[in-house]
Amino acid sequence: MSSIIPSINIFKKEPTKKLRILFVAAEVAPFIKVGGLGEVMHSLPNALRALGHDARVFLPKYATIDTQKFPLRPEVQGIKSLTDDSDPHDLLVSNVLRYEENGQTIAYFLENMEYYEKRANVYGYVDDTTRWVLLSKGVLEFIKVSKWKPDIIVASDWQTGFVPNLLRTDYKNDPVLSKIKVIFCIHNLQFQGLFDHHFVSEMDYDAGRAPIPAFFDPNILKLNGMRRGIMYADLINTVSPTYAKEILNDEFGEKLDDLLKERRSSLFGILNGIDVESFNPQIDSDIVVKYSVKNLDNRSKNKIALQKRFNLALDKNKFIAGIISRMDAQKGFDLIVEISDALMRNIDFQLIILGTGSNYYRGFFQDLQKKYPDRIGCHFFFDNQLPKLILAGADTILVPSRFEPCGLVQMEAMRYGAIPIVRKTGGLADSVENYIPGQDKGTGFIFENYDRYAFLIAFIRASETFRDKKEWIKLMKRAMSKDFSWKKSAEEYTNLFLRALGLQGK
Ligand code: GLC
Repeated sequence: MSSIIPSINIFKKEPTKKLRILFVAAEVAPFIKVGGLGEVMHSLPNALRALGHDARVFLPKYATIDTQKFPLRPEVQGIKSLTDDSDPHDLLVSNVLRYEENGQTIAYFLENMEYYEKRANVYGYVDDTTRWVLLSKGVLEFIKVSKWKPDIIVASDWQTGFVPNLLRTDYKNDPVLSKIKVIFCIHNLQFQGLFDHHFVSEMDYDAGRAPIPAFFDPNILKLNGMRRGIMYADLINTVSPTYAKEILNDEFGEKLDDLLKERRSSLFGILNGIDVESFNPQIDSDIVVKYSVKNLDNRSKNKIALQKRFNLALDKNKFIAGIISRMDAQKGFDLIVEISDALMRNIDFQLIILGTGSNYYRGFFQDLQKKYPDRIGCHFFFDNQLPKLILAGADTILVPSRFEPCGLVQMEAMRYGAIPIVRKTGGLADSVENYIPGQDKGTGFIFENYDRYAFLIAFIRASETFRDKKEWIKLMKRAMSKDFSWKKSAEEYTNLFLRALGLQGK
């Protein structure tokens, strides 16, 4: 575990104490996944279970959860949450359902018709803050009556920042809840509530100290869940050691850097892992031909399949760059837009984009594709299999993020032998090692400054290195041999939990 203060180590492989841990989040795969948070909420609890802990998850029961595939059974009926703290009769009643599969993490779902079941999406409603306050109250009310009580709650991102807040205010005298330690995990500091925190007027500013307003009070929509989570949690974690340092300065701090500095002795950074079972080119049935470091020749068959899939010129020696990403400014799309045409004109390569989000970027790539039809392939909808084929067929994956709390795709890419080109920030800096010719080291190409020239130079370095087949194969082998499994992260989380419980040196 890397932290701002010196970290501690436990040398034993097995945890000293079996912990009960409850993760609360807005999304948890495989039930519902919008982005990286959902993925982490699936893999991390499972990795903790593998270490012997009892880790469970708690999330809303959205209409889109497939109850045929995931049959749910009642766990607790009639969870009562106050909608107005000043009136004990103003209650909202929800139920908790449970999903359990042999050997897997137990999942609890908060059922509420109005706030979750009638909504098709996870995010994007005008009353989102109310929905998340309900989730936060719901989980605490559930723990009060549940037979199973956690030692630790892990709340993630602004949506569940109200859990630490309520736990240390409204619920602070509860005999059960007051004993539970709470960790707030930051996956992305940029999203703090239903407003743009860069432009909050003084009147609307949420300093985090006032009680949470009633559900029907419009002021509830002005709450800053991120600030509150950071203020009230026992410990704060973020998803890479570098991001934990970066958010202490104003470039990355999203106006919370002063608060984070105040809390720096409680702030940690643990790098996410990836699911090395489902991301494994040796056994992956989503790719055309399986391969490993021992039979890398097979990989080029995936490249041909990829070119066919996108109607590109078929050529196993062509350099292919792939992008698998949410298309937004965080992910560095303005840099990609700035250099794409120049790259196309000057370098012989093919480009594949699998992106969701912004119509602006979609339009840009569609226009570019018209210009270079047999060299550019685009897909703008979510797809389960396509990312794997791109990882297995492309030579490089571009991740030029402006900031990146962790980032998962660069690790998935390395596992498949697609060499990432990344900006040196957050988890990208912590997971990719820069290639320097002649040193037999490095797993990717890193650039520092967020500008088009730096990115362009990194791209040229990669495309030139690709021409040296021997060198490129060595690079692929090094990248594919890196261990990004969750086990290591889960051990570091165990340390963090023990620290929160006062069982490891403070
Ligand atoms: C957010 C971050 C991303 C991180 C993911 C999972 O989506 O933007 O960097 O990998 O959360 O922690």
